[in-house]
Amino acid sequence: MSKLLTLPGLVDVHVHFRDPGQLQKEDFYTGTSAALAGGFTTVIDMPNNTVPITTAQLLKEKIQIAKTKTVSNIGFHFGSLGNNLDEFEKVKNKVFGLKLYLNQTTGGFIIGKKELVRIYDAWNSPQPILLHAEDDVLDMVFEIVKKTKRPTHICHVSSKEELLKIAKAKEKGLPVTCGVTPHHLFLTKEDAKRLGAFGRMKPFLKGKRDTDFIWKNFAYVDIIESDHAPHTLQEKNADAPFGVPGLETTLPLLLTAAEEGKLSIDEIVQLCHTNPIKIFNIKLKEESFVDISMEKFTVQRKKLLTKCGWSPFEKRQLIGKVVNVTVGRKKVFENGKVLIRPGDGKVITPKT
Ligand code: NCD
Ligand code: ZN
Repeated sequence: MSKLLTLPGLVDVHVHFRDPGQLQKEDFYTGTSAALAGGFTTVIDMPNNTVPITTAQLLKEKIQIAKTKTVSNIGFHFGSLGNNLDEFEKVKNKVFGLKLYLNQTTGGFIIGKKELVRIYDAWNSPQPILLHAEDDVLDMVFEIVKKTKRPTHICHVSSKEELLKIAKAKEKGLPVTCGVTPHHLFLTKEDAKRLGAFGRMKPFLKGKRDTDFIWKNFAYVDIIESDHAPHTLQEKNADAPFGVPGLETTLPLLLTAAEEGKLSIDEIVQLCHTNPIKIFNIKLKEESFVDISMEKFTVQRKKLLTKCGWSPFEKRQLIGKVVNVTVGRKKVFENGKVLIRPGDGKVITPKT
């Protein structure tokens, strides 16, 4: 028996569970099952559903569905295209953030500077605005953050230039945080060639100069976010939509990097637990724990609980197998199996 490591239940503030609307890709049960299998006891789901979650009514319906299916803690981000400012007051105590897209991605959920300014003025909440904002729009974004002082989280930093701009903004004292995904740390555009559709996501994979720069400047990175974005094998083979799943490989990738001396276990806890909780004001009533066996295993699609059933990391040998997950006094996951029923997990809000 290899040694057991116990960590607090991890928190992923960036997942796309596709429920309601695209249940062929994922749903709240399979998504939160994948979360537990990956050591995540709390996830925050994104609003880019087929019908984007931009009204209090749509949010309420989404929460109702989640209540019947979730096996982990789950919370939500709200969405905006600039035409739902009246809804903000109604939802601001119910969501962990407002997610906006300034670059093209799955769902065509994109806004420009004019809408961004109006949204920043209207979002009167301590919860952060999360941005899909790549290098080309960051200067414009930081101008607005400087004027409005709204807490802003830059999602999935992928390039040297982006991290340099974010580091400068932080040094100027702007209320800016950022996240990096495992695929932007452990894959490059060389892998993208090999993976084809299965290495296609937004932002695109970058060069080794970028991944090396991010690893060297981790001090500026606040959190790891999986950007778990499942699509079916059939969809990927047909028109290669952007996005890859990540919940079940994030922790083993980080633990393998820790074994190689690239970061410490304490840093993993900061990036995947302490910092996301602090940045997004997540209050959890129950403590949770993950027991991990520090043994080698190979990523295999047949072992995954995500409905999409594949991973860009298939065939990699990683260290760190989640063996048990406990939430409160209840064991919720053991040796590849979820032990509780759909709906036994909790929907959380910043006010719970
Ligand atoms: C995401 C998706 O599929 O919903 N795709 C992706 O490539 N990351 C959308 C997103 O978060 O950009
Ligand atoms: Zn995303």
